Amino acid sequence: MSAAAKIMEPDRRAGRWSGFLAAVRSALTTGSRLTENEMLGPKTTMRVGGPARVYAEPATAEDLRLLLVEAARCGLRVFFLGRGSNLIIPDEGVDGLVLSLAHESWQKFEPRPDGRVWAGAGLRLKNLCGLATKAGLKGFEFLEGIPGSVGGALRMNAGAMGGWMFDVVEEVHLMSLAGETRTLKKGEMHVDYRHCAELHEAIALGALLRPAASAASADIRRQIDVYQKKRVESQPREPSAGCIFKNPPGASAGRLIDELGLKGERVGDAEVSPVHANFIVNRGHATGADIIALVRRIRARVKSAKGIDLEPEVLLFGREWRDVL
Ligand code: EPU
Repeated sequence: MSAAAKIMEPDRRAGRWSGFLAAVRSALTTGSRLTENEMLGPKTTMRVGGPARVYAEPATAEDLRLLLVEAARCGLRVFFLGRGSNLIIPDEGVDGLVLSLAHESWQKFEPRPDGRVWAGAGLRLKNLCGLATKAGLKGFEFLEGIPGSVGGALRMNAGAMGGWMFDVVEEVHLMSLAGETRTLKKGEMHVDYRHCAELHEAIALGALLRPAASAASADIRRQIDVYQKKRVESQPREPSAGCIFKNPPGASAGRLIDELGLKGERVGDAEVSPVHANFIVNRGHATGADIIALVRRIRARVKSAKGIDLEPEVLLFGREWRDVL
Protein backbone atom coordinates (compact mmCIF):
# COMPACT_ATOMS: atom_id res chain seq x y z
CA MET A 1 0.00 0.00 0.00
CA SER A 2 1.35 3.47 -0.89
CA ALA A 3 1.91 6.11 1.83
CA ALA A 4 -1.08 8.12 0.57
CA ALA A 5 -3.29 5.03 0.57
CA LYS A 6 -2.19 4.22 4.15
CA ILE A 7 -3.29 7.67 5.31
CA MET A 8 -6.61 7.27 3.48
CA GLU A 9 -7.33 3.83 4.96
CA PRO A 10 -8.42 4.86 8.53
CA ASP A 11 -10.68 7.56 7.04
CA ARG A 12 -12.22 5.08 4.67
CA ARG A 13 -12.84 2.64 7.53
CA ALA A 14 -14.36 5.34 9.74
CA GLY A 15 -16.62 6.30 6.83
CA ARG A 16 -17.86 2.73 6.49
CA TRP A 17 -18.73 2.59 10.17
CA SER A 18 -20.55 5.91 10.18
CA GLY A 19 -22.49 4.83 7.08
CA PHE A 20 -23.42 1.57 8.81
CA LEU A 21 -24.45 3.21 12.07
CA ALA A 22 -26.53 5.83 10.28
CA ALA A 23 -28.37 3.10 8.35
CA VAL A 24 -29.18 0.85 11.29
CA ARG A 25 -29.60 3.15 14.32
CA SER A 26 -32.99 4.58 13.47
CA ALA A 27 -34.29 1.40 11.85
CA LEU A 28 -33.74 -1.07 14.72
CA THR A 29 -36.68 -1.83 17.00
CA THR A 30 -36.47 -0.46 20.54
CA GLY A 31 -35.68 -3.83 22.14
CA SER A 32 -32.40 -4.17 20.22
CA ARG A 33 -29.07 -3.02 21.68
CA LEU A 34 -26.32 -1.37 19.66
CA THR A 35 -23.12 -0.06 21.23
CA GLU A 36 -19.66 1.03 20.15
CA ASN A 37 -16.41 -0.20 21.68
CA GLU A 38 -18.15 -2.68 23.96
CA MET A 39 -15.62 -4.72 25.97
CA LEU A 40 -15.93 -8.39 25.08
CA GLY A 41 -13.77 -9.94 27.84
CA PRO A 42 -16.58 -9.79 30.43
CA LYS A 43 -18.86 -11.62 27.98
CA THR A 44 -16.54 -14.63 27.92
CA THR A 45 -15.79 -17.34 30.45
CA MET A 46 -12.02 -16.72 30.09
CA ARG A 47 -12.59 -13.03 30.87
CA VAL A 48 -9.85 -11.62 28.63
CA GLY A 49 -9.83 -9.50 25.51
CA GLY A 50 -10.57 -6.10 24.02
CA PRO A 51 -13.59 -4.37 22.52
CA ALA A 52 -15.88 -4.88 19.56
CA ARG A 53 -15.88 -1.88 17.22
CA VAL A 54 -19.68 -2.27 17.16
CA TYR A 55 -21.70 -4.73 19.22
CA ALA A 56 -25.38 -5.57 18.75
CA GLU A 57 -28.02 -7.71 20.40
CA PRO A 58 -30.91 -7.80 17.93
CA ALA A 59 -34.33 -8.44 19.46
CA THR A 60 -35.95 -9.77 16.28
CA ALA A 61 -35.03 -11.70 13.13
CA GLU A 62 -35.81 -8.57 11.09
CA ASP A 63 -33.30 -6.55 13.13
CA LEU A 64 -30.70 -9.30 12.73
CA ARG A 65 -31.30 -9.29 8.97
CA LEU A 66 -30.96 -5.51 8.82
CA LEU A 67 -27.65 -5.60 10.70
CA LEU A 68 -26.27 -8.33 8.42
CA VAL A 69 -27.43 -6.73 5.19
CA GLU A 70 -26.06 -3.31 6.13
CA ALA A 71 -22.76 -4.77 7.34
CA ALA A 72 -22.39 -6.54 3.97
CA ARG A 73 -23.29 -3.37 2.09
CA CYS A 74 -20.67 -1.37 4.02
CA GLY A 75 -18.01 -4.09 3.67
CA LEU A 76 -17.74 -4.75 7.43
CA ARG A 77 -16.66 -8.00 9.01
CA VAL A 78 -19.27 -9.78 11.12
CA PHE A 79 -18.63 -12.05 14.11
CA PHE A 80 -21.06 -14.13 16.14
CA LEU A 81 -20.72 -14.36 19.88
CA GLY A 82 -22.55 -17.03 21.85
CA ARG A 83 -22.06 -17.50 25.57
CA GLY A 84 -18.35 -16.83 25.05
CA SER A 85 -17.26 -20.10 26.59
CA ASN A 86 -15.14 -21.50 23.82
CA LEU A 87 -13.14 -18.58 22.58
CA ILE A 88 -10.28 -16.24 23.25
CA ILE A 89 -10.76 -12.57 22.45
CA PRO A 90 -7.50 -10.92 21.33
CA ASP A 91 -6.31 -8.00 23.47
CA GLU A 92 -6.87 -5.57 20.60
CA GLY A 93 -10.51 -6.69 20.25
CA VAL A 94 -12.11 -6.95 16.83
CA ASP A 95 -12.63 -4.35 14.13
CA GLY A 96 -16.02 -5.68 13.18
CA LEU A 97 -19.68 -6.02 14.03
CA VAL A 98 -20.16 -8.52 16.84
CA LEU A 99 -23.65 -10.01 17.00
CA SER A 100 -25.06 -11.82 19.99
CA LEU A 101 -28.49 -13.45 20.32
CA ALA A 102 -28.57 -12.68 24.04
CA HIS A 103 -31.99 -10.98 23.91
CA GLU A 104 -34.68 -13.03 25.66
CA SER A 105 -36.62 -13.46 22.42
CA TRP A 106 -33.94 -15.98 21.34
CA GLN A 107 -34.13 -18.00 24.55
CA LYS A 108 -37.32 -19.95 23.90
CA PHE A 109 -37.86 -23.54 24.99
CA GLU A 110 -41.04 -24.90 23.42
CA PRO A 111 -42.06 -28.56 23.58
CA ARG A 112 -44.12 -29.42 20.47
CA PRO A 113 -47.11 -31.81 20.29
CA ASP A 114 -45.02 -34.18 18.10
CA GLY A 115 -42.54 -34.67 20.96
CA ARG A 116 -39.83 -32.43 19.57
CA VAL A 117 -38.56 -29.30 21.32
CA TRP A 118 -37.76 -25.91 19.81
CA ALA A 119 -34.71 -24.34 21.46
CA GLY A 120 -33.72 -20.77 20.59
CA ALA A 121 -30.06 -20.11 19.84
CA GLY A 122 -29.71 -17.81 22.85
CA LEU A 123 -30.99 -20.39 25.33
CA ARG A 124 -28.31 -21.45 27.78
CA LEU A 125 -27.59 -25.17 27.85
CA LYS A 126 -28.04 -25.16 31.59
CA ASN A 127 -31.56 -23.76 31.14
CA LEU A 128 -32.29 -26.20 28.33
CA CYS A 129 -31.44 -29.06 30.70
CA GLY A 130 -33.39 -27.54 33.59
CA LEU A 131 -36.52 -26.98 31.50
CA ALA A 132 -36.28 -30.41 29.85
CA THR A 133 -35.91 -32.05 33.27
CA LYS A 134 -39.01 -30.24 34.53
CA ALA A 135 -40.91 -31.31 31.40
CA GLY A 136 -39.81 -34.94 31.92
CA LEU A 137 -37.78 -35.02 28.69
CA LYS A 138 -34.65 -37.15 28.77
CA GLY A 139 -31.56 -36.97 26.55
CA PHE A 140 -30.07 -33.53 27.22
CA GLU A 141 -28.36 -34.34 30.53
CA PHE A 142 -24.82 -34.40 29.05
CA LEU A 143 -25.16 -30.71 28.11
CA GLU A 144 -25.86 -29.51 31.64
CA GLY A 145 -22.38 -28.47 32.70
CA ILE A 146 -21.28 -26.95 29.39
CA PRO A 147 -21.24 -23.18 29.89
CA GLY A 148 -22.63 -22.40 26.45
CA SER A 149 -25.74 -21.38 24.54
CA VAL A 150 -27.63 -23.54 22.05
CA GLY A 151 -26.22 -21.47 19.14
CA GLY A 152 -22.61 -21.88 20.25
CA ALA A 153 -23.15 -25.57 20.97
CA LEU A 154 -24.46 -26.05 17.40
CA ARG A 155 -21.55 -24.10 15.89
CA MET A 156 -19.01 -26.18 17.83
CA ASN A 157 -20.98 -29.45 18.01
CA ALA A 158 -20.24 -29.18 21.72
CA GLY A 159 -19.91 -32.38 23.64
CA ALA A 160 -19.35 -33.91 27.03
CA MET A 161 -19.80 -37.21 28.82
CA GLY A 162 -19.86 -39.15 25.56
CA GLY A 163 -22.68 -37.08 23.98
CA TRP A 164 -22.58 -34.48 21.21
CA MET A 165 -24.99 -31.64 20.51
CA PHE A 166 -25.91 -33.04 17.10
CA ASP A 167 -26.98 -36.31 18.76
CA VAL A 168 -30.18 -34.49 19.78
CA VAL A 169 -30.62 -32.17 16.77
CA GLU A 170 -33.22 -32.81 14.04
CA GLU A 171 -33.02 -29.54 12.16
CA VAL A 172 -31.36 -26.16 12.46
CA HIS A 173 -32.81 -22.78 11.47
CA LEU A 174 -30.11 -20.36 10.38
CA MET A 175 -29.56 -17.00 8.74
CA SER A 176 -26.81 -16.45 6.18
CA LEU A 177 -24.53 -13.40 6.13
CA ALA A 178 -26.80 -12.08 3.35
CA GLY A 179 -29.78 -12.21 5.74
CA GLU A 180 -31.49 -15.23 4.16
CA THR A 181 -33.12 -17.77 6.45
CA ARG A 182 -32.93 -21.51 5.82
CA THR A 183 -33.86 -24.72 7.59
CA LEU A 184 -31.42 -27.59 7.33
CA LYS A 185 -32.04 -31.16 8.39
CA LYS A 186 -29.22 -32.76 10.35
CA GLY A 187 -28.49 -35.10 7.42
CA GLU A 188 -27.84 -32.12 5.15
CA MET A 189 -25.22 -30.68 7.46
CA HIS A 190 -21.48 -31.38 7.68
CA VAL A 191 -20.88 -32.02 11.31
CA ASP A 192 -17.78 -33.34 12.97
CA TYR A 193 -15.87 -33.29 16.26
CA ARG A 194 -16.27 -29.71 17.57
CA HIS A 195 -17.24 -28.49 14.12
CA CYS A 196 -20.27 -27.60 11.98
CA ALA A 197 -19.39 -26.35 8.49
CA GLU A 198 -22.76 -24.69 7.74
CA LEU A 199 -22.39 -22.34 10.73
CA HIS A 200 -19.07 -20.82 9.62
CA GLU A 201 -20.77 -18.26 7.42
CA ALA A 202 -24.20 -18.21 9.03
CA ILE A 203 -25.79 -17.80 12.42
CA ALA A 204 -28.05 -20.40 14.03
CA LEU A 205 -31.40 -18.99 15.11
CA GLY A 206 -32.49 -22.13 16.91
CA ALA A 207 -33.03 -25.84 16.46
CA LEU A 208 -35.63 -28.54 16.69
CA LEU A 209 -34.36 -31.12 19.13
CA ARG A 210 -35.48 -34.69 19.67
CA PRO A 211 -35.51 -35.92 23.28
CA ALA A 212 -34.43 -39.54 23.75
CA ALA A 213 -37.52 -40.43 25.79
CA SER A 214 -39.91 -39.28 28.48
CA ALA A 215 -38.85 -40.01 32.03
CA ALA A 216 -39.52 -39.02 35.60
CA SER A 217 -37.89 -35.69 36.46
CA ALA A 218 -36.19 -37.21 39.52
CA ASP A 219 -34.50 -39.89 37.36
CA ILE A 220 -33.22 -37.28 34.88
CA ARG A 221 -31.95 -35.17 37.79
CA ARG A 222 -30.02 -38.14 39.17
CA GLN A 223 -28.14 -38.57 35.88
CA ILE A 224 -27.33 -34.85 35.81
CA ASP A 225 -25.97 -35.12 39.35
CA VAL A 226 -23.65 -37.98 38.28
CA TYR A 227 -22.24 -35.86 35.42
CA GLN A 228 -21.93 -32.81 37.65
CA LYS A 229 -19.94 -34.75 40.24
CA LYS A 230 -17.58 -36.06 37.55
CA ARG A 231 -17.08 -32.56 36.16
CA VAL A 232 -16.46 -30.95 39.55
CA GLU A 233 -13.85 -33.61 40.34
CA SER A 234 -12.03 -33.45 37.02
CA GLN A 235 -12.28 -29.84 35.77
CA PRO A 236 -11.08 -26.53 37.23
CA ARG A 237 -13.37 -23.86 38.73
CA GLU A 238 -11.31 -20.81 37.69
CA PRO A 239 -12.20 -18.83 34.55
CA SER A 240 -11.23 -20.79 31.43
CA ALA A 241 -12.38 -21.46 27.90
CA GLY A 242 -12.93 -25.17 28.54
CA CYS A 243 -10.55 -27.60 26.88
CA ILE A 244 -8.01 -25.63 24.91
CA PHE A 245 -6.93 -28.34 22.42
CA LYS A 246 -8.87 -30.96 20.50
CA ASN A 247 -8.07 -34.50 21.50
CA PRO A 248 -5.77 -35.92 18.80
CA PRO A 249 -7.06 -39.16 17.22
CA GLY A 250 -6.82 -41.96 19.76
CA ALA A 251 -5.26 -39.83 22.50
CA SER A 252 -6.17 -37.36 25.22
CA ALA A 253 -4.63 -33.89 24.97
CA GLY A 254 -5.00 -33.47 28.75
CA ARG A 255 -3.10 -36.65 29.48
CA LEU A 256 -0.32 -35.80 26.98
CA ILE A 257 0.22 -32.34 28.48
CA ASP A 258 0.05 -33.76 32.01
CA GLU A 259 2.65 -36.45 31.19
CA LEU A 260 5.08 -33.71 30.18
CA GLY A 261 4.80 -32.14 33.62
CA LEU A 262 3.21 -28.95 32.32
CA LYS A 263 0.51 -28.57 34.97
CA GLY A 264 1.09 -25.23 36.71
CA GLU A 265 3.13 -23.85 33.77
CA ARG A 266 2.49 -20.10 33.54
CA VAL A 267 2.78 -17.10 31.26
CA GLY A 268 1.69 -14.06 33.25
CA ASP A 269 -1.64 -14.97 34.82
CA ALA A 270 -2.42 -17.70 32.27
CA GLU A 271 -1.77 -21.12 33.79
CA VAL A 272 -2.05 -24.75 32.75
CA SER A 273 -4.62 -25.94 35.27
CA PRO A 274 -3.23 -28.21 37.98
CA VAL A 275 -6.62 -29.98 37.93
CA HIS A 276 -6.87 -30.77 34.19
CA ALA A 277 -3.93 -30.12 31.88
CA ASN A 278 -6.08 -29.36 28.82
CA PHE A 279 -7.49 -26.25 30.50
CA ILE A 280 -5.71 -22.90 30.60
CA VAL A 281 -7.09 -20.92 33.51
CA ASN A 282 -7.04 -17.19 34.12
CA ARG A 283 -5.46 -16.64 37.53
CA GLY A 284 -6.66 -13.03 37.68
CA HIS A 285 -5.27 -10.67 35.09
CA ALA A 286 -4.27 -12.88 32.17
CA THR A 287 -4.17 -11.21 28.76
CA GLY A 288 -4.91 -12.68 25.36
CA ALA A 289 -1.17 -12.47 24.64
CA ASP A 290 -0.39 -14.54 27.77
CA ILE A 291 -2.78 -17.25 26.66
CA ILE A 292 -1.47 -17.33 23.10
CA ALA A 293 2.13 -17.56 24.40
CA LEU A 294 1.18 -20.44 26.69
CA VAL A 295 -0.65 -22.25 23.86
CA ARG A 296 2.50 -21.86 21.76
CA ARG A 297 4.72 -23.22 24.54
CA ILE A 298 2.50 -26.26 25.19
CA ARG A 299 2.32 -27.08 21.48
CA ALA A 300 6.11 -26.82 21.11
CA ARG A 301 6.70 -29.14 24.08
CA VAL A 302 4.17 -31.73 22.90
CA LYS A 303 5.55 -31.61 19.37
CA SER A 304 9.16 -32.09 20.44
CA ALA A 305 8.43 -34.81 23.03
CA LYS A 306 5.66 -36.75 21.28
CA GLY A 307 5.76 -35.59 17.65
CA ILE A 308 2.06 -34.58 17.84
CA ASP A 309 0.65 -31.28 16.57
CA LEU A 310 -2.06 -30.26 19.02
CA GLU A 311 -4.81 -28.28 17.34
CA PRO A 312 -6.60 -25.59 19.40
CA GLU A 313 -10.22 -26.39 20.07
CA VAL A 314 -11.15 -22.89 21.21
CA LEU A 315 -11.63 -20.19 18.60
CA LEU A 316 -9.44 -17.11 18.47
CA PHE A 317 -12.03 -14.42 17.82
CA GLY A 318 -11.47 -12.56 14.56
CA ARG A 319 -8.16 -14.25 13.84
CA GLU A 320 -6.78 -17.60 12.76
CA TRP A 321 -4.64 -19.61 15.15
CA ARG A 322 -2.26 -20.43 12.30
CA ASP A 323 -1.42 -16.71 12.02
CA VAL A 324 -0.35 -16.41 15.66
CA LEU A 325 1.19 -19.79 16.49
N1 EPU B 1 -6.14 -36.93 32.12
C1 EPU B 1 -4.92 -36.89 32.71
N2 EPU B 1 -4.44 -35.68 33.15
C2 EPU B 1 -5.12 -34.53 32.98
C3 EPU B 1 -6.38 -34.57 32.34
C4 EPU B 1 -6.88 -35.78 31.92
O1 EPU B 1 -4.26 -37.90 32.87
O2 EPU B 1 -4.62 -33.47 33.38
C5 EPU B 1 -6.69 -38.22 31.67
C6 EPU B 1 -7.93 -38.59 32.46
O3 EPU B 1 -7.61 -39.24 33.66
C7 EPU B 1 -8.68 -39.49 31.49
C8 EPU B 1 -8.28 -38.93 30.13
O4 EPU B 1 -7.12 -38.14 30.33
O5 EPU B 1 -8.22 -40.79 31.59
C9 EPU B 1 -9.39 -38.10 29.50
O6 EPU B 1 -9.75 -37.02 30.38
P1 EPU B 1 -11.26 -36.51 30.56
O7 EPU B 1 -12.13 -37.66 30.95
O8 EPU B 1 -11.21 -35.32 31.43
O9 EPU B 1 -11.72 -36.14 29.12
P2 EPU B 1 -11.06 -35.19 28.03
O10 EPU B 1 -10.90 -35.99 26.81
O11 EPU B 1 -9.85 -34.49 28.57
C10 EPU B 1 -13.34 -34.43 27.02
C11 EPU B 1 -13.78 -33.14 26.39
C12 EPU B 1 -14.33 -32.22 27.44
C13 EPU B 1 -15.46 -32.90 28.21
C14 EPU B 1 -14.89 -34.15 28.86
C15 EPU B 1 -15.91 -34.93 29.66
C16 EPU B 1 -12.30 -32.61 24.48
C17 EPU B 1 -11.10 -31.85 24.04
N3 EPU B 1 -12.62 -32.49 25.78
O12 EPU B 1 -12.23 -34.12 27.84
O13 EPU B 1 -14.86 -31.09 26.75
O14 EPU B 1 -16.00 -32.04 29.20
O15 EPU B 1 -14.39 -35.01 27.79
O16 EPU B 1 -16.79 -35.58 28.83
O17 EPU B 1 -12.93 -33.28 23.67
C18 EPU B 1 -14.45 -28.88 26.00
O18 EPU B 1 -14.72 -29.29 24.87
O19 EPU B 1 -14.16 -27.68 26.20
C19 EPU B 1 -14.43 -29.82 27.11
C20 EPU B 1 -14.08 -29.47 28.32
